[in-house]
Amino acid sequence: MNRSYSLSGEGTEADARSKESFKFVSEKMASHSPANPDEVPTCSLSVSQVSYTVSERVGPWWDLPSYRKRWTRQILTNVSFHVDSGQILGILGNSGSGKTTLLDAISGRIGNTGKLLGEVCVNGRKLKQEQFQDCFSYVLQSDNLLSYLTVEETLTFTAHLALRRHSSSAIRKKVGMVMAELSLGHVAHCVIGGRVFPGISGGERRRVSIAGQLLQDPKVILLDEPTTGLDSMTANQIVVLLANLAKRDRIVVVTIHQPRSELFRVFSRIAIMSQGELVFCGQPGEMVDFFSDQGYGCPEYCNPFDIYVDLTSVDTRCSERQATTYNRMHDIASAYRSSEIYRRMLGRIEESRQVTDKPCIPFKSKESPSGLSKLGVLFRRTMRNLSRDRMGVLMRLSQNLIYGLFVVFFVMKLDKDVTKGAVQDRIGIIYQAMGASPYTGMLNAVALCEYGGVVPPLWVGGAETQSVQGVPAVRAISDQESKDGLYHKWQMFLAYIFHILPFSIISVFIFSSFLYWTVGMYPEVSRFLCFSGVILVPHVIGELLTLVLMGVVQDPNMVNTGVALLNVAGIMVGSGFLRSNQQMPTVFKMLSYLTFQKYGCELLIVTEFHGLNFTCGDAPGIIPGQCMMSNGDAIIEQGYPGALTRYTQDFIMLYAFLPALVLLGIISFKIRDHLVRR
Ligand SMILES: Nc1ncnc2c1ncn2[C@@H]1O[C@H](COP(=O)(O)OP(=O)(O)O)[C@@H](O)[C@H]1O
Ligand SMILES: [Mg+2]
Repeated sequence: MNRSYSLSGEGTEADARSKESFKFVSEKMASHSPANPDEVPTCSLSVSQVSYTVSERVGPWWDLPSYRKRWTRQILTNVSFHVDSGQILGILGNSGSGKTTLLDAISGRIGNTGKLLGEVCVNGRKLKQEQFQDCFSYVLQSDNLLSYLTVEETLTFTAHLALRRHSSSAIRKKVGMVMAELSLGHVAHCVIGGRVFPGISGGERRRVSIAGQLLQDPKVILLDEPTTGLDSMTANQIVVLLANLAKRDRIVVVTIHQPRSELFRVFSRIAIMSQGELVFCGQPGEMVDFFSDQGYGCPEYCNPFDIYVDLTSVDTRCSERQATTYNRMHDIASAYRSSEIYRRMLGRIEESRQVTDKPCIPFKSKESPSGLSKLGVLFRRTMRNLSRDRMGVLMRLSQNLIYGLFVVFFVMKLDKDVTKGAVQDRIGIIYQAMGASPYTGMLNAVALCEYGGVVPPLWVGGAETQSVQGVPAVRAISDQESKDGLYHKWQMFLAYIFHILPFSIISVFIFSSFLYWTVGMYPEVSRFLCFSGVILVPHVIGELLTLVLMGVVQDPNMVNTGVALLNVAGIMVGSGFLRSNQQMPTVFKMLSYLTFQKYGCELLIVTEFHGLNFTCGDAPGIIPGQCMMSNGDAIIEQGYPGALTRYTQDFIMLYAFLPALVLLGIISFKIRDHLVRR
């Protein structure tokens, strides 16, 4: 029976040969598969009738009539399969067939945007929402690793985050064992590497990601396209390695794109997905028989994976092809659902549910350290990574200085003569110092969180491009590890703040030392220290605010714009430079108390102007009244009445913004985590 698939026309002789050649595979599989009657699997994973639907807008936002309408899109349709420990299930399917969504769904990581139905059982016990994270290890498609750590350091830090009761020597032993299991010993002391400096290879990076998950001894490991982007030999090695991991009494579920034909003999179970449906799931030998029975034999010298994935894919290039290929896919899926293979699989699911004495759910080793020790580990890890980033550190320390050079070059030397800009220049410097510092902070946060501190933001398209290309970003890492249950995002947020603080202090100190003494601001060391202390705050706030917004909003462009607008609004309302405080409407006056710029500018004005006496030259063309303000205190009283008496209070208020923002950050991260996980 030859269907529309052209290659099937090779004839029944070829079919028979292919069946013959894959018989060998089937037999081979039996030797390592736990389907072997002597081996009783210690763990099983049953996925039963999992469906996922999302509600989507029909058209884009610029086409309003269709944008207003919604339709329900079925992404997964009644997916069921059963895998026992010792087995590796390979899920094949063309791009967009729903492989990643399926893994997300069965690992409990699917967002709350859609409706998820169905059951996931381990050892016949239905998993509750909070148990997914503790049961499954999930290796994402992209490797999110810190570029400047070595392989051993990466795994050791992960082990410290995951395992508490282990002593340092036990952790070292564990890391050594995992590295040996994944053949990483030879690169233990090599750095992970990034796009602009060499490190370990792509295949080794994949193995480090897998190793990180193995530290907690998971029984069920899910991997999303672990071979994508690797050369075919490395991809082969990774799959063979995963099969070996499965043989050690684990369940491995792996989605894969275009595997080599040799891998046919490596998988214990193969599933093919198309349009969100499982069109086949069974042993490799069964697959050949099943497709041959449907009239689609695998021709000799052809890769069965390619042939069967092509057969079951829907070609959307033109409507006729789409209809033909959709019908073919549908026929195959129906044939599979009425086959003995499917019935047997449902039987296995039911059997595992009916066992009276069900084994417990095998949770990962989860002896998390206390919150404080996690913070310590996260701090040491981020600090080590950043301190090895020579260019990152250099830019962090010098960016304020470079900006200070511009100001100095422009202002040169401050004068005491009012007619030569003594007042205006000083106010200009204060305005610049307060107004620009948050931007440098913001850029630092964006560079490290979104671009991994390696690639300047302008060179790349976005965060997703980054992760795909292997340049890790702190945010991607914290997203992944918090989903793995290693820590909460707010803990990473705190560690991040602590680790940037020394760099911020040094950077601002370099900037203020240079600017303050070069342009000749009030020559008193205590005032210089106050000046430095004040401008440190907007710099740190810029970085903190960016982090807080990043925790809530995913789009970095929105974050940049948000921080920039908040800063512009703050300096307008709070500084009193654009419009004097006394002249502002009451609502703006009240709003100004919520801006750190109000306290900062007041402090800097007092620091610079208090006790300063000006001269007034007798050059021709002096505007009448220009020389009326001959001392700094009069200027303070006129623009900022009472500021002299509020000095300490202003300092407290200014610094209070830091813990307030940290608190706001922690709360917003917690709320977001709660909303996303629900
Ligand atoms: N939350 C969602 N909202 C809308 N569409 C989604 C959502 N999640 C997945 N999809 C869509 O489902 C399809 C399958 O996606 P995916 O699982 O990533 O495929 P694969 O991993 O096989 O390439 C894609 O067309 C994708 O756009
Ligand atoms: Mg995918």
